[in-house]
Amino acid sequence: SAAEKGGYQHFMAKEIMEQPKAVRDTISPRIQDGKIVLDNITLTAEQIKGFSKIFILACGSAYHVGMVAKYILEKFARIPVEVDVASEFRYRHPIIDDKVLVLVISQSGETADTLAALREAKKLGARTLSIVNVVGSSIANDSDDVIYTWAGPEIAVATTKAYSTQLAVIYLLAIYFADLLGNLSKEDYAYYVSQLQELPDKIAEILSNKEHIQFLASQFFNVKDVFFIGRNLDYAMSLEGSLKLKEISYIHSDAYAAGELKHGTISLVEDGTLVVALATQNKLFDKMMSNVKEVKARGAVVLGLTTEKNTKIEQEADHTLYIPEMCEMMLPSLAVVPLQLFAYYVASMKGCDIDKPRNLAKSVTVE
Ligand code: G6P
Repeated sequence: SAAEKGGYQHFMAKEIMEQPKAVRDTISPRIQDGKIVLDNITLTAEQIKGFSKIFILACGSAYHVGMVAKYILEKFARIPVEVDVASEFRYRHPIIDDKVLVLVISQSGETADTLAALREAKKLGARTLSIVNVVGSSIANDSDDVIYTWAGPEIAVATTKAYSTQLAVIYLLAIYFADLLGNLSKEDYAYYVSQLQELPDKIAEILSNKEHIQFLASQFFNVKDVFFIGRNLDYAMSLEGSLKLKEISYIHSDAYAAGELKHGTISLVEDGTLVVALATQNKLFDKMMSNVKEVKARGAVVLGLTTEKNTKIEQEADHTLYIPEMCEMMLPSLAVVPLQLFAYYVASMKGCDIDKPRNLAKSVTVE
């Protein structure tokens, strides 16, 4: 009913709008007097220092969180991270021992592939930590440690607030590990913690501007193909932006590392192809602008996404989406929000069954 949907037309819209609260509820109990406190975790500092590798296992959007997490954890903890889809991991004789931390990410905590991968990892001797939304679920119960995302129930098949809260936990964990490993100065630690605390308000700021995204959706809702391009964190996050669009609007879309486009995929760009170019990372901004020129020269229409100060993107992009400034490592948490809204409005304009897209289930409990 409309009441259950909080006055919104779809659960997905309600859940997109709940993200500031969901992220705040996930972060704030774990920050006390400026320190990250994960006191229900039994993992010792000694164990964390001994990890030679972190393996992230998940499916779907949770796997996409893992893709972003690789960049974040490697940057902060300086521990090598490998990310794998759960259904692949099990069948390739993975190299695991007790020096490996297996990090499992799942909204439902019941995805059969993910649960089986977790059990396989445990059998091989890994230490396991899961990031789960549903309290008491199988994955939560079977892990050595669990950090809950406090997103609340998620009803729409296409995840939004679960993705955002999982990513928020990754930041907590990355800063926590970095501190224990002696990788952060006092000043940097305080800076990252305070940036994390600002995240909910910055997400809210983007949501208050949703009409602009609705307008952009009205310009593009009948396109046939969309390519999302970005580098590093932008690439990792664009996997999710692309999945959101294809799963609910049925428009073919793919995400590519921008530098890889020229090695094949650029042959698919023709007059009018929509390319969403993500350029939130300052060091990579100029490189991204060269990629934008490349696709424009082949006829692409470009929707650029960057932070507020990078107005020079307008020299190349046909349309732009701005997100607020904040520390670059956390920008995926902001950039995903306009992409969720874009997918939502496009699907809505196409008259799609947004909360229950064809062929999909919220939780897949068969392998
Ligand atoms: C299904 C859903 C996806 C979800 C994936 C993993 O395929 O349609 O949205 O990302 O399962 O679910 P989990 O509950 O493990 O996060």
